[in-house]
Amino acid sequence: RLEKVWLSIGVSMLAVFLLVLGIMTFGRGIAPPNEHIHHIDPTKVSETPPFDKPQITKIGENTYKAVMVAYAFGYDPMPMEVPAGSTVHFEITSSDVVHGFEIPGTNVNVMVTPGEISHVSHTFDKPGEYLILCNEYCGIAHEMMKTTLVVK
Ligand code: CUA
Repeated sequence: RLEKVWLSIGVSMLAVFLLVLGIMTFGRGIAPPNEHIHHIDPTKVSETPPFDKPQITKIGENTYKAVMVAYAFGYDPMPMEVPAGSTVHFEITSSDVVHGFEIPGTNVNVMVTPGEISHVSHTFDKPGEYLILCNEYCGIAHEMMKTTLVVK
């Protein structure tokens, strides 16, 4: 009798779990078409737009988009420059191993995993040279992996 109760509880929990899983899968399938892409074939980064042409482009007033590729041991494109007061939306992927993307002195600090696209934004109010560096150990020249964003 008690066993039956527990069995039905187990079955209902399984049903709920499957339902949630189904909703999540379905929800992902009907994502709006202009939503950010989050996945990429890491072996085809150099042929997959927009990462085939890493670049920083102006997309609005005081707004820039930086499409970047992290690799052992550097970042494309480099160097980069924006006017003070610009908001930069970074989209970064890796063409090899896990890297970091940190801009000390800002809230920008994300992991860059091959196969995934990391999104992070920051508004650069103060002019200066902002260091961008890798904070995930990625090999022999990890310490050298850095670039600069110039804010004028
Ligand atoms: Cu890239 Cu450490």
